[in-house]
Amino acid sequence: VTLNTLNTLYKNKTPISMVTAYDYPTALAASSSILTDLILVGDSLAQVCLGYPSTNELTLDEVIHHARAVARGTTHPFTIADMPFGSYHISVEQAVTNAIRLVKEGRVESVKLEGGAEVAPIVRKLVEVGIPVMSHIGLQPQKHISLSGYKVQGKTVESARKLIEDALTLQDAGAYSTLVEAVPKELGAYVTEKLRIPTIGIGAGPGTSGQVLVIDDLLGSWSGHKAKFVRRFANLKEVRDSGIHSYAEAVRDGSFPNPESESYTMDSEEWERFL
Ligand code: KIV
Ligand code: NA
Repeated sequence: VTLNTLNTLYKNKTPISMVTAYDYPTALAASSSILTDLILVGDSLAQVCLGYPSTNELTLDEVIHHARAVARGTTHPFTIADMPFGSYHISVEQAVTNAIRLVKEGRVESVKLEGGAEVAPIVRKLVEVGIPVMSHIGLQPQKHISLSGYKVQGKTVESARKLIEDALTLQDAGAYSTLVEAVPKELGAYVTEKLRIPTIGIGAGPGTSGQVLVIDDLLGSWSGHKAKFVRRFANLKEVRDSGIHSYAEAVRDGSFPNPESESYTMDSEEWERFL
């Protein structure tokens, strides 16, 4: 999948499928369907994989470390890494330096960053340098402290207008796509109609050009908060935890390992001589 492939999907109105991955096994899992178009090393890495309370503590070095593993497990999908909180707001120069690290060391093909018109100069410069940028509007989890939590965005006329303006400004700055998080479905469809680049929605209704979910949410492999927009397509946690418990039980009651089928045997003559 290249930017051209994405454009073709968009032109044909074929919904684009994107999923997060955080390491080698999740990248293999995400790549296992030919229908996966995009893999995101999201900064949700912080909560889902590293146990942080929010994305804000996540460092660029941590994203790079995980992105490299994702790159090793990714086959056909186009790859994106989130620029973590604090890695791009100080200056355009800081953003370029860090986006280059994500591409060179993290081995991803593009970056995503949160923000509206205020980050347009950063987007423009990164695109000039040759790093494709996905923008991220609507709910911006890196701002959860100033927003007093994770809330649906764009529910008032003023905030809906601002979202459309932001989306257009980011498109003008050269973003190849815009992620739209947690907005009313009407606005998700409307912003998609106003743009000439694909939108990827999460909690933005069915009217966007594509959808993204956190892999552990869709697989049901973690027990964190389940947002309204999450659909569980599998229930891995149940399967996994019951596997762990069965193993521990078998160790405890001595039934694992089986002395015949799960153990090696010494030649009996050698064993006599050994004794
Ligand atoms: O970090 C993340 O997982 C995201 C979601 C919107 C997919 O950015
Ligand atoms: Na993110």
